[in-house]
Amino acid sequence: MPTLMRTFAVLICSVLFSAASSFSQTKLAATPPMGWNSWNHFAGHVTDADVRSAADMLVSTGMRDAGYIYVNVDDTWQGQRDAQGVLHPNDRFPDMKALGDYIHSKGLKFGIYSSPGPKTCGGYEGSFGHEAQDAKMYAEWGVDFLKYDLCSFQDNMKKAQAEHPDDPNAAKNLMIAAYRKMGDALKATGRPILYSLCQYGVDQPWKWGPGVGAQMWRTTDDIDDSYGRMIAIGFSQAGLSKYAGPGHWNDPDMLEIGNGKMTEDEYKTHMSLWVILAAPLLAGNDLSKMTDADKSILMNKDAIAIDQDPLGKQGDRLYQSGDLDVWTKPLSGGRVAVGLFNRSWDYRDVSIDLGDIGFKNGASLRDVWKQQDLGHHSGVFTSTVPKHGVTLLIVSK
Ligand code: GAL
Repeated sequence: MPTLMRTFAVLICSVLFSAASSFSQTKLAATPPMGWNSWNHFAGHVTDADVRSAADMLVSTGMRDAGYIYVNVDDTWQGQRDAQGVLHPNDRFPDMKALGDYIHSKGLKFGIYSSPGPKTCGGYEGSFGHEAQDAKMYAEWGVDFLKYDLCSFQDNMKKAQAEHPDDPNAAKNLMIAAYRKMGDALKATGRPILYSLCQYGVDQPWKWGPGVGAQMWRTTDDIDDSYGRMIAIGFSQAGLSKYAGPGHWNDPDMLEIGNGKMTEDEYKTHMSLWVILAAPLLAGNDLSKMTDADKSILMNKDAIAIDQDPLGKQGDRLYQSGDLDVWTKPLSGGRVAVGLFNRSWDYRDVSIDLGDIGFKNGASLRDVWKQQDLGHHSGVFTSTVPKHGVTLLIVSK
């Protein structure tokens, strides 16, 4: 084949290949993934029984039907590798395939956790040097989701940087190659496995995450069950909206709603911010101990619909003044979600000019947390918002 034709053929193939791979990425996470993860509540004590019970509770509480379908086992399920390099689970997880089957029998999906390093953050076995073998095993177990956490791979990166002092990208390139290796290994299994990167937002994963086959990537270090940490993460996401869309999502970390250390208004702020951010919604609480308030926050249909809107646009900050913040998220059908946030210690009036978001002739407002239609408004709309609270609105023509 003449060189020009060959080049043309290669070009066509690579365009088709990347279109096909971005198509399959989108299919796996057309809207932000939703589910439950063991870490925020059970941390290093999680057992097979806890995970089965979480699956049961997702069904009995109605959370599965509200969209929470992934059941993700985080760190500390791993045991030792045998002489063939096969990784076995530890005593707390007698049979991973059976656990996956159980989760699937409930109409749910099965998620697992590993690290590109030799050890996970909890000091358990990582996938370093065993990527293809582990990916194949996950596929055999019926795994649908992998969270891949940088952890001890940071030591490899430090070493690479020390060995190549003249290359400012030595550590970054090594990390991206490690994430690509597992992305390729997952693809090679032929099983659709959602790939979630966890490397704390270092080196802007929103720019290279889709290229290594990921559907979501953490944008920050860990959340905890405190208002201070939650808002520090949530409000720091300003400016990232252009990097999210169907098949590729920014992940400001898992939810803390229901873990007990924030007030109801603070948890409403948490949920409102995350849905405006089109964040993956991975509950991280003990589902057997949910209060009615926890359930009504996690399962508010309008809030979930904002997150899962088919347009797939992440929201962003519209204005900020001291402790008051106004964020908006474009929704399908020309609608807009608006969050009026009050970070102060007292009631405050928070306003939005509806003209600023394209409703010059006014709009119909719905209050998501009150579950009330507020009628037609035009010009400036003001809401009195409690301390650390939010008014979440859906605005439509
Ligand atoms: C952290 C990660 C947490 C959790 C933990 C497990 O690095 O950000 O979400 O997975 O490791 O050890």
